[in-house]
Amino acid sequence: MSLSVNLLATIAIELQSGISHQDRFQRLITTLRQVLRCDASALLRYEQGAFRPLATDGLSPDVPGRRFAIAEHPRLEAIARAGDIVRFPADSALPDPYDGLIPGHEQLKVHACVGLPLFAGQTLIGALTLDGMDPYQFDNFSDEELRLLAVLAAGALNNALLIEQLEHQSPLIAPQRAAAAEGSAGEMIGESPPMQELKQAIAIVAPSDLNVLISGETGTGKELVARAIHEGSPRAANPLVYLNCAALPETVAESELFGHVKGAFTGAISNRSGKFEMADNGTLFLDEIGELSLPLQAKLLRVLQYGDIQRVGDDSSLRVNVRVLAATNRDLKTEVVEGRFRADLYHRLSVFPLVVPPLRERAEDTVLLAGFFCEQCRARLGLSRLVLSPGAIAHLRAYRWPGNVRELEHAIHRAAIFARAAQGTPEVVLEAHHFALKTAGRETPVAAPPAGPVAQQNLRAATQAFQRRLIRETLNQHHHNWAASARALETDVANLHRLAKRLGLK
Ligand SMILES: Nc1ncnc2c1ncn2[C@@H]1O[C@H](COP(=O)(O)OP(=O)(O)OP(=O)(O)O)[C@@H](O)[C@H]1O
Ligand SMILES: [Mg+2]
Repeated sequence: MSLSVNLLATIAIELQSGISHQDRFQRLITTLRQVLRCDASALLRYEQGAFRPLATDGLSPDVPGRRFAIAEHPRLEAIARAGDIVRFPADSALPDPYDGLIPGHEQLKVHACVGLPLFAGQTLIGALTLDGMDPYQFDNFSDEELRLLAVLAAGALNNALLIEQLEHQSPLIAPQRAAAAEGSAGEMIGESPPMQELKQAIAIVAPSDLNVLISGETGTGKELVARAIHEGSPRAANPLVYLNCAALPETVAESELFGHVKGAFTGAISNRSGKFEMADNGTLFLDEIGELSLPLQAKLLRVLQYGDIQRVGDDSSLRVNVRVLAATNRDLKTEVVEGRFRADLYHRLSVFPLVVPPLRERAEDTVLLAGFFCEQCRARLGLSRLVLSPGAIAHLRAYRWPGNVRELEHAIHRAAIFARAAQGTPEVVLEAHHFALKTAGRETPVAAPPAGPVAQQNLRAATQAFQRRLIRETLNQHHHNWAASARALETDVANLHRLAKRLGLK
């Protein structure tokens, strides 16, 4: 069987209709699968050394979240370099990026595999991949025929990319990364309606000079949002300076923010610039802004109002041009009502409020994120494959993720390590029970009795030992995020810092 003119015309027309790019790409892929009778096909976008799936058929639902670095995947590298259609020998020893990811075919050994690079002029913009379990699957199709398909797909993809660029909102284009070597690190995965809205809001606010308040539960990705805003702004070439307000002991906070001059206080042995100066012409990201003390809030407000700062111990003031992004996982409005946060500062900061939705409100992103972290983790652990069983996918979908994306990321890494140890091969399958270990762990209350011979300690020593252990464990659980740990322990973050110091933990 070969491709009829009728069929090509049908594909061409389908690529012009459809409600959205996504819809068109999906139709293309589905049609190709029917026509070529392949078991799996994918349309991939090429960008900065990696392929990202735009539409897939016959592949596991987590594949669209995976980012395939060509340096990691020899077959994809071959396609990227070829300049023309690549037919891999059915018994090719090159590892296949979809190995274990085609449901119903857990072992992808001898199979037919064709890659079609897609070009806009001389530039590689993507690829079509076709996989079939029958080793002779694509032999009836000539190179010319397959090239025609590639040309149609390339035209459609290129159009979509141009339109996205014109519209200035680019879900098809990963955020421009300064550190291209980092590959997909920093990309915001998620195609759910709330994430699409968030990405659009970011695209709108980023080029402006407005201050942005980013709120959302712990682990939802507020820091990624801040980076995306900075990178989408005219300040992108200048520094993005990070300051965690929760980790800021009151005594050094002012100097951290505004700097100090020599002799301003004991220990001020030389002039030092603060974060505001470092962020001049760039962006200052004030993380956990809700933890900032009231006196410092007043000082911050002054800078936002007048655009000038005073180093500690200096009477003169310096002008700075800084855009402030602030993040919090508290409800700042409540903090204002309860007198812990200044209303005027709140209004200055929240000119453009962004709320990052919790993972449980965008369940469809969970599987994409899981694929994304699996591929990252696979590369990091040097595994030849790291895939999710259907049971694992069901488990991930059903769980509520109180720790949001961060919790999911850690759950995947932990499960991968358990599974690798248990399976003892570089081809690792994550099953639901690899995650169950973690869920059980979470529900175990931290307040277990201290280890050691309790009876031999006096009350004070025993209590302190217990406090030390509890704080250490809580910090570990919250990845050394002091604000989150303080919340978990239902104490104030400043108190926690003080207590930790007294217990010799700092
Ligand atoms: N949409 C996403 N796509 C990919 N990775 C994500 C996404 N959202 C979050 N992450 C990852 O999850 C982890 C937690 O994200 P981040 O540190 O931005 O959370 P946060 O909202 O600042 O949490 P906290 O309030 O606890 O500080 C990071 O490793 C981040 O890269
Ligand atoms: Mg954070």
